[in-house]
Amino acid sequence: MDRRTFLKTAALGTMASGIAGRVAAAGQYFPVQADQSLFATINRAKNPAKMSPLEQKHVPIITAPKSVAAGASFTVEVTVGEVLHPMGPTHWIEHISLNIGNEPAGQLTLQPRGFLAPKATFTVTIPKEAAPAGKVTLLVHERCNLHGYWEGSVDIAVV
Ligand SMILES: [Fe+2]
Repeated sequence: MDRRTFLKTAALGTMASGIAGRVAAAGQYFPVQADQSLFATINRAKNPAKMSPLEQKHVPIITAPKSVAAGASFTVEVTVGEVLHPMGPTHWIEHISLNIGNEPAGQLTLQPRGFLAPKATFTVTIPKEAAPAGKVTLLVHERCNLHGYWEGSVDIAVV
């Protein structure tokens, strides 16, 4: 092997191993295994009575009274996942938001540092005019950095 061929081979080998190392490092911090189809739509439990493992970790579980008095405060608790979703640097819940019917009520933003569990508690008051039919839907959305948007909902009576 002449000097020129040796230098070319060594340079290409170094570049290739450098690129492979960077791809491996990027894969550690920004996993590429995310299923992009989960980001194309809002995901829901197909059969709430028998959820898949993915659904068990992502469908928001909403705890709220079945009936509330108009104008009175009550608590809505949200937990992301029947099986609590992880909160690590490569896989976490980015936000949890609550809608009262079609109206956005609020949102909790979470960081991937593992300090907080993917849970939120909202104190809600629904005026009579917001529930003309005597009921309202509490709609919760959450976004996982790897598994997209997920929705859970519950209807409550407003008397
Ligand atoms: Fe996830």
